[in-house]
Amino acid sequence: MWDSHWEKVFQDREWGRYPAEDLVRFMGRNYYNVPNRKQVKILEVGSGTGANLWYLAKEGFDVTGIEGSKTGVERSIKRLKEDGLSARVMVGDVIKLPFEDDYFDCVVDIECIYANSYGDSKKIIREIRRTLKPGGKLFSKTLMSGTSGDGKGQRLEGEENTYIEFDEGAFRRDGRLTRFTAEKEIGDLYNEFNMVSLDYSVRTEKNREIEIKEWLIICQKKT
Ligand SMILES: C[S@@+](CC[C@H](N)C(=O)[O-])C[C@H]1O[C@@H](n2cnc3c(N)ncnc32)[C@H](O)[C@@H]1O
Repeated sequence: MWDSHWEKVFQDREWGRYPAEDLVRFMGRNYYNVPNRKQVKILEVGSGTGANLWYLAKEGFDVTGIEGSKTGVERSIKRLKEDGLSARVMVGDVIKLPFEDDYFDCVVDIECIYANSYGDSKKIIREIRRTLKPGGKLFSKTLMSGTSGDGKGQRLEGEENTYIEFDEGAFRRDGRLTRFTAEKEIGDLYNEFNMVSLDYSVRTEKNREIEIKEWLIICQKKT
C-alpha cells in the first residue's frame, strides 16, 4: 500500500531531476538498438516527480508512469510539458495496476518497491508480471540488506527487514516505510520470472560513515 509520507516529501522539497545512472545503462544495453522506440512500451512504477519518465520520453519510448503522490504526478506532467515531451502519468497505487495483461515491453522500478511491506511487494511484483508481455523485462533497483540503518530501527510487525522508524543510518527520518531486500528473499519475491542478472551497487556518503547498497535486478517474464 502506498505510504502517504511521500506526498509531504514532494510538497516540501526538490527531488532529483535526472535519471538514475543504472537505468540509463540498462536502457542503453537493452533498448537503444530497437528499430522503432515508439513501439517499446515502458512503465515506471512509483515514478516520483518524473525524472526517469522525462529521460525515457526524451529517448523516444512510449512511456507510462504511475505514482501514489498527486504532487509527484503534477510535477512530472509540468516538467514533461515544459520540454515538449509526452508520457502517460497517473495517480495510483501500484499494488493494483490499471493496465491489461501482457501490455508492456518493460517495467522499471527505481526504488519504488522497497517502500512497501514484504507482503505488498510480492503483490506489486505479481501485478508487474501480469502486465508485462511474455519475454518482457523488469529492471528493479531496490535497497539491499546491509545498507546503513538496516537492523537499527523499529520493525514493521511480522516482517524481518521492513522498518517504520530508524535510530541511525542512511534512512533516519520521517516514518517512511523502508524495506531492505536480503539475497535469500529475491527468489521468492521475483519468482515466476527468469533471472537475467543479479548485481548490486554500493556507494558511501558522509566520508564513508554511511553505506548504501542497492540490488540491480534484471529479470524476464517467462514465455
Ligand atoms: C524513492 S522514490 C523514487 C521516485 C522515482 N522512481 C525516482 O527514481 O526519482 C519512491 C517512489 O515510489 C512511490 N511509491 C512507493 N510505493 C508506491 C505504491 N504502492 N504505489 C504508488 N507509488 C508508490 C513513492 O510515492 C515515491 O514517489
